[in-house]
Amino acid sequence: MKAADEIKIRRSMAIISHPDAGKTTLTEKFLLYGGALHLAGSVTSRKKERATASDWMELERKRGISVSSTLLQFDYAGYKVNLLDTPGHKDFSEDTYRVLTAVDSVIMVLDAAKGIESQTRKLFEICRRREIPIFTYVNKMDRPTRHPLELLDELEDVLQLNAFPVNWPLGTGFDFKGVYDRMAKQVHLFQKLSKGGSQAAPVSIRGLDDPIVKDNLSAQDYAHLCEELELLEGAGGLFDPADVLAGDTTPVFFGSALNNFGVQLILDYFLKYSSEPIPRKVNGRIIPTESDKFSGFIFKILANMDPNHRDRIAFLRVCSGKFERDMTVWHSRTGERVKLSNTRKMFGQEREAIDEAYAGDVVGIVGRSGFGIGDTLTEDPAITYHEIPRFTPECFMTIRNPNPANFKKFKKGMDQLLEEGVVQEFFRDDDVHANSRLLAAVGPLQFEVVTYRLQAEYGAESLMEPAPWQVLRWIDPATPEATLREARIPSGSTLARDANQHRVLLVPSEWTLNYFCEKNPAIAISNVPYELIQKPRKR
Ligand code: G4P
Repeated sequence: MKAADEIKIRRSMAIISHPDAGKTTLTEKFLLYGGALHLAGSVTSRKKERATASDWMELERKRGISVSSTLLQFDYAGYKVNLLDTPGHKDFSEDTYRVLTAVDSVIMVLDAAKGIESQTRKLFEICRRREIPIFTYVNKMDRPTRHPLELLDELEDVLQLNAFPVNWPLGTGFDFKGVYDRMAKQVHLFQKLSKGGSQAAPVSIRGLDDPIVKDNLSAQDYAHLCEELELLEGAGGLFDPADVLAGDTTPVFFGSALNNFGVQLILDYFLKYSSEPIPRKVNGRIIPTESDKFSGFIFKILANMDPNHRDRIAFLRVCSGKFERDMTVWHSRTGERVKLSNTRKMFGQEREAIDEAYAGDVVGIVGRSGFGIGDTLTEDPAITYHEIPRFTPECFMTIRNPNPANFKKFKKGMDQLLEEGVVQEFFRDDDVHANSRLLAAVGPLQFEVVTYRLQAEYGAESLMEPAPWQVLRWIDPATPEATLREARIPSGSTLARDANQHRVLLVPSEWTLNYFCEKNPAIAISNVPYELIQKPRKR
């Protein structure tokens, strides 16, 4: 196949939702329809311990949340799908944001009884900022729900998004019988299978006037359905795929992931109308996906995914050209040439050697140290991507090793977790506690991951104590050292440096921050590192 044809069939996607809306269930069902999980066996075993193919980490199992995202790759209907799993819990949003830099389209799952929830909204904002096309799956239609029209209104009012219902439910709750596909003008009648829906649900497809459709609904419900469909038609608005790609319209699908209702419909339409791999921009220059020069960036690093291997994997999103095993590329941060030999295609914990990849693909580079999140690997040294956002930490802790005999293990573990970006480290100017290190995170659960993984993966105990700051700001690097030396630092505040040696200010409250700004008008500060202040990506 020609490179351009290879790229056309790639889809790189993520599913986002508020916890419990059904992201994990929908992911599993996609794998079921993609033939990747036979009978979605994990669905039943998950009943016992919530272990899924994408939910591998011990800690995740214990807590029942998805801490770090994984990659699932499968073929479906002629497409090569890269499905990137994202953690739903807000404390791990930094990880989610990074993953979203690697995808071209997103499916947003809503609980039909709850509509848009706080975390859905936050994740949606990130997608909007990155202009990522969003498809909406309204899940749990088999339970009491809010009115579908009300949910559409909410999408339009709260998210300011044009909502186009591609299908429409036939009844809700116990009476949820199927959906009407408004594009194909066909009714899909679903048949409920055994609990958990570990097989594709049998569907019978018919016209709206078919007597079998009428037989399945009460006369009142059928009349109601026809009225609603007329209302939707009357409300106008044709489906325009360009509006979807522009992120202005979200195609909406109703269903029940648990029962496999409407899963195949959204998957089929998603693949048809979602974005092909989007070319990235570097300093205003568009890098064509089919360029003859390979390039990509690392959006995630994970160690010890498989306790039997204990190695680290850097996940690279291919942006242009063709990746080939054993190729030698520039590592743009260090300016060194590196050979990419041990590269893998990933399916949760399973790995398969990968020989070639194209734009839109994600490649796992195994066992190499020295790569960092955000690093560019490229055959064209003029390309350096700046795709990964940094987040302003809001929680601070000090960590120390209580057992001097374990110094090496502690250091090794900390180095790895910092490389993965589990937390950030800052270095105080006035630090006299050589034994304790200052860590910062967006959410407190990130600290728990550190303590847990230090112990579980490196056998290192650790002691954490809260640090007294709540606000961090980066200081404009143009600020002369003399100005900083003479700065009036409020009590309880301190200057520090980030891992790139950039100056930061740590203060105990917003009030103190305002006080600092008042007293030091010559010092400019920002809530993102100055080197990352750049315009949002434009298609
Ligand atoms: P998440 O990844 O977004 O956090 O949600 P997840 O898929 O884990 O689903 C959360 C709960 O909602 C699970 O129940 C799941 O079975 C249920 N669920 C998902 N889709 C549907 C649906 O279409 N209909 C109904 N009725 N329930 C659905 P749980 O009791 O928390 O876990 P489990 O014991 O069922 O695994």
